[in-house]
Amino acid sequence: MPDVSAPTLHVHADLEQLSRACAERWGALCSEAIAQRGAFHVALAGGSTPRRLYALLAGDEFSPHTDWGRVHVYFGDERSVPPNHPDSNYRMAREQLLAHVPVPEDQIHPIMAAPDSIEQDAASYARTLRCNAPLGPDGTPHLDLMLLGVGPDGHTASLFPDTPILEEKAKLVAAVYVERLQTWRVSMTFPVLNRARHLLFQVAGNEKAEVIGRLFGPQDDRPPLPVQRLRPEGSAEWHVDRAAAARVQP
Ligand code: 6PG
Repeated sequence: MPDVSAPTLHVHADLEQLSRACAERWGALCSEAIAQRGAFHVALAGGSTPRRLYALLAGDEFSPHTDWGRVHVYFGDERSVPPNHPDSNYRMAREQLLAHVPVPEDQIHPIMAAPDSIEQDAASYARTLRCNAPLGPDGTPHLDLMLLGVGPDGHTASLFPDTPILEEKAKLVAAVYVERLQTWRVSMTFPVLNRARHLLFQVAGNEKAEVIGRLFGPQDDRPPLPVQRLRPEGSAEWHVDRAAAARVQP
């Protein structure tokens, strides 16, 4: 995919239909990975949009179709809060999904991100990726699926505009201070996102209409948004609700 404005855009009536479609795609991608490689290595997205997807995956309708014993769970990014903090991406995933499905504990890899050890925590997670995820010939993790969201400013994971992490080409995981949020984050970097076999974006709500309209509209000479700087080596798909697609030209 030359850039993120090229891939297929799936527009759904609302968040529920969006989440159900993504649960179906999870099932297909998971089954394919397990059939071909014996495992499914997936990085979960944070924020609020994926909550419903995770709850659906844990529910009776979808959970039986995932071979949870072969699933390995990572996180694309994490806030600099304890794992039981209301803002923790890990806590949300644990509450909505991981506490309800039989993924072996040693196959769940949360990111530790404490403000007073943030650089060490980022380096530690890079080691976690290297020790647990399948690696490509250059030693970069080769995840089967990355679930991602997009912020109104075009960030994805914690690759925020005007931050040094956007230029990180060597580290797999880095710490980033986000001035606008006045907080530290730990995030996978572009090398890891680009190497994933498949990227699946979930975007919902009218506050995302401007960014989705820009991503899927005529390209102009404005500097690219972080999400537009992705150069996926695999495939990507976008699932949005009607509200987020409101400014996409038919
Ligand atoms: C995070 C996410 C971030 C998120 C977007 C969209 O930690 O917040 O990793 O990249 O996906 O900000 O968030 P919403 O789904 O809450 O709109």
